[in-house]
Amino acid sequence: MSRVRLCSVHDVRPGAAGEFPVGDRLVAVFRLAEPRDGREWFALDGLCPHAGGPLGAGALTGCVVTCPWHGWQFDVTDGSHTLTPQIQHESFPVIVEEDAVWVDLPEPE
Ligand code: FES
Repeated sequence: MSRVRLCSVHDVRPGAAGEFPVGDRLVAVFRLAEPRDGREWFALDGLCPHAGGPLGAGALTGCVVTCPWHGWQFDVTDGSHTLTPQIQHESFPVIVEEDAVWVDLPEPE
């Protein structure tokens, strides 16, 4: 695991998403309008597992993001597909310290 600073808390407004490149990876970050169990920030791999659409450019409704390309939807709190439980997208732990948003990413293979 390596901890990477993604952005400032001011870069993503509540109820919105953002995307940030980290090395050769794209990370989608989501800031819930209403925190879930005290957690406001979540992160997923930024490329939709369907066909590579940009999840960080998707619309966030509650804790569900809709991929802008073909409409697949994921629960951003755990990466699960809302209709097909067999589809599990990669999610990453998020840490917020002061005004910085960090994400723990697995080491590249
Ligand atoms: S690429 Fe995301 S739904 Fe098709």
